[in-house]
Amino acid sequence: MTAPLVRMRGISKRFGPVVALDGAEFELLAGEVHGLLGENGAGKTTLMNVLAGLYRADAGEVEVDGRPAAIREPRDAVRLGIGMVHQHFELVGQLSALENVVLGREGGAWLRTDRLRREVQALMERVGLPVPLDRPVRELPVGVQQKVEILKALYRGARVLILDEPTTLLTPQEVDSLFASVRALVEAGVSVVFITHKLHEVLRTCDRVTVMRRGRRVVTVGRQEADPTRLVEWMVGTAPPPPAARNPSPPGRPVLELEAVKVLDSRGVLALDGCTLAVRAGELVGVAGVSGNGQQALASVVAGTVRPASGVVRLDGRVATRHGVAERMRAGVLSVPEDRLRDGILPRMSVAENVLLGRHRLHFRGVWYEPEVGRRLAQQAIEEFRIACPGPDAPAGQLSGGNLQKLIAARVFGGARERGARLLVAHNPTRGLDVPSTEFLHGRLVEFCQAGGAVLLISEDLDELLKLSDRIAVLYRGRVVAEFPRGRFDRYEIGRAMTGGVSA
Ligand SMILES: Nc1ncnc2c1ncn2[C@@H]1O[C@H](COP(=O)(O)OP(=O)(O)OP(=O)(O)O)[C@@H](O)[C@H]1O
Ligand SMILES: [Mg+2]
Repeated sequence: MTAPLVRMRGISKRFGPVVALDGAEFELLAGEVHGLLGENGAGKTTLMNVLAGLYRADAGEVEVDGRPAAIREPRDAVRLGIGMVHQHFELVGQLSALENVVLGREGGAWLRTDRLRREVQALMERVGLPVPLDRPVRELPVGVQQKVEILKALYRGARVLILDEPTTLLTPQEVDSLFASVRALVEAGVSVVFITHKLHEVLRTCDRVTVMRRGRRVVTVGRQEADPTRLVEWMVGTAPPPPAARNPSPPGRPVLELEAVKVLDSRGVLALDGCTLAVRAGELVGVAGVSGNGQQALASVVAGTVRPASGVVRLDGRVATRHGVAERMRAGVLSVPEDRLRDGILPRMSVAENVLLGRHRLHFRGVWYEPEVGRRLAQQAIEEFRIACPGPDAPAGQLSGGNLQKLIAARVFGGARERGARLLVAHNPTRGLDVPSTEFLHGRLVEFCQAGGAVLLISEDLDELLKLSDRIAVLYRGRVVAEFPRGRFDRYEIGRAMTGGVSA
């Protein structure tokens, strides 16, 4: 048997007291798509950051093409043909796609010669990744930006391409397109490492799968030996929790009502354009839609972070259109924001402070929380939500992506009851969460509903909406264009409405 293209042996890496990798093993074969699975904080990103030269391992060896490889910095990895696309893209928004692709290469962005363009065009054709080269990348949809990132890695000669949770931000159509590209890349001789939490993606695209737990490899198997139940067992070490049961009680009075609400976004464009929607007590209403159809504005207008230009917002029957965040919170509105770094987390503050953020105001009337009470609450939240971190005092910025998301959820749900919460608005609340954490959060949403609360769940994950919703409203160009009660869920019809193909 020929040597694997990449072999990582006994890789260990600590961050202060946190053991991120503890003798991890990994092999990538030439010409394969290799899925990398594991719970939040299992060490997937760290392991691949070691391979890409972003982190230096404390121990262990890396071999490329059967020869020891000294990867000390990103440049070493690039020289060996290893490229990584991170979850948060590193493109320069105002530069064109072409400039971004060639950036950092000899001559870089300033040498816009025909030669560079021809090179990039030839590459795009060879690997089947067409992108418009001259538009500023910030004007391109996320799925296309991601292709620019991939091209950038390939342009630097990557034959090993690492994709860290590449599908989280994509629409279903973009996911299909990405998978087609991945196949084309493999045909063109590229080997792919694919980090994801979505089991069906692994089963659909990967030739082999490695499952990690707590900084170590649990197993590497071929796709035919992997099924969802076994994968989850390997990830968490136990049988998967039963899915959250939806046992809807007849909905009560309207808790949230939006009537013909219009919202302008920061560029003065109508993000919500006459949106009408109601959520009743005990009801979970899912909002489906291709991202960019007003989801952000909807979440913000309900949470009170933006004011509508016109229309009416009612909470429990009372007009609340002009109320800001603090008044909404007092009226019992909880919100799980989508953008965890912008709206959710203060990275320099500790885990404990982040968990308690917003609560002190209600509990202690403007006085900062008492440290001991705070620590105890934070410790409880860490355990309950299984947030992987060294402790309540660790800076939140050091947590893995999924653990940040859990931290926000812990904050939102912590004390929901004593705060008399009535309405929960959650925008992509399980994005980047592993399977058990997703189940846990789904359970909490259902619980909240069954205790008489109203939930507005805005999600790009249609499976999640189909599983949890009593009713699905489809948002298209800033309006609800169709509603489907639970008994009439039809994936195809909903998908059609999401792309504007509905008049009813
Ligand atoms: N720069 C850092 N400083 C401190 N701790 C870190 C750093 N990077 C990662 N860690 C810690 O190392 C552990 C592994 O993190 P890593 O990001 O590799 O997990 P992951 O498997 O990619 O998780 P996720 O699915 O949530 O993205 C986590 O406990 C994380 O908090
Ligand atoms: Mg990660």
